[in-house]
Amino acid sequence: MNLKIALLPGDGVGPEVIDQTLKCLRAIEEVFGHHFLFKEAAVGAMAIDKTGKPLPGETLRICSEADAILVGALDNPKQYGYQNMGLRPELGMLQLRKSLGLFANIRPVKVFNSLIHNSPLKKEVIEDTDLIVYRELQGGVYTGKKALNEKGTVASDLCEYSEKEISRITHLAFKAAKNRKKKVTLVDKANVMESSKLWRKVVGKIGESYTEVALDFMFADHAAMQLVRNPKQFDIILTENMFGDILADEASTLVGSMGLVASASIGAKNALFEPLHGGIPQEKGNNTANPIASILSAAMLLEHFKLFEEAMAVREAVNKSLAKDIVTPDLKANSKYGTSHVGDFIADTLSNYDDDDFNMNDENIGLGKSTII
Ligand code: IPM
Ligand code: MN
Repeated sequence: MNLKIALLPGDGVGPEVIDQTLKCLRAIEEVFGHHFLFKEAAVGAMAIDKTGKPLPGETLRICSEADAILVGALDNPKQYGYQNMGLRPELGMLQLRKSLGLFANIRPVKVFNSLIHNSPLKKEVIEDTDLIVYRELQGGVYTGKKALNEKGTVASDLCEYSEKEISRITHLAFKAAKNRKKKVTLVDKANVMESSKLWRKVVGKIGESYTEVALDFMFADHAAMQLVRNPKQFDIILTENMFGDILADEASTLVGSMGLVASASIGAKNALFEPLHGGIPQEKGNNTANPIASILSAAMLLEHFKLFEEAMAVREAVNKSLAKDIVTPDLKANSKYGTSHVGDFIADTLSNYDDDDFNMNDENIGLGKSTII
């Protein structure tokens, strides 16, 4: 398959994790006979520094012409501190989502059995957790009318949703549930918000046509509590933009490290893939950031183009690195392995995908000398 992939390494540890993902995709290309054409573009703080804009026109053009977009991270460097809410790096991502019409943000949270000890939850609560947050990405308070009165003393953000916006992501959520545990939980505040009432009505109606999928409704505050109390009850969590933002972060921390959670943002024509973590400026250049979230985003990219065996190969290679404890320090304090070692190991494993006898020499990895580089 030929794929044009826009690469947006961004800020902080973004370029480091994207380097590892690139190694893995190059290995997939070679082993499975694909051709990926990468084109790099600027976004976030580094784009502001270069062009004065978090999403330069050239970047938007490259992204809209690409089959897929891979993002590293958007940073919060000190100069964009919390006092300055004007021109912020993450505006680049918000503008990209809006311009490309990326309406479904998909964040899978699946616990790795070998990492259960890293979870803040007890083993018996977290084990077997396997859920996906389907977050609507175009509407709600993110894009609703915003206002500030003249005196600067009263402000508002409108939470607006149309039937059309609700139904397109709802269909994706039900289709996903059909191939999984066959359950959709709509998370809302229908006891308070008019927009939530519309969500219940539209989702309820669509749910009738997916007879094999059970539909459940849950208020957002209760869902936040249930996520830590009994996360395995969930299969697909379907929700609006802001609730999804909050609940996806909460859900992702259950697996033990943000460095493990990938995401996809899907539109009618474009699709973007990125790790859930941000730029982690304090780790920039240290070779300590976990590249797995970014590598698993690439697995989601492959799946999006129905390259299921390739995606499975990436997941298996990631599992192998976890099983062999070739992990960054977020997963194992004092680990001797860094970002590039983990990336090399996973890429090497992929390169040797067809070789059953392949056995990685851990000592070489420790020295930063992979077998193929
Ligand atoms: C996310 C982020 C963004 C959001 C920020 C950076 C604007 O938190 O992708 O979840 O709120 O959507
Ligand atoms: Mn968020």
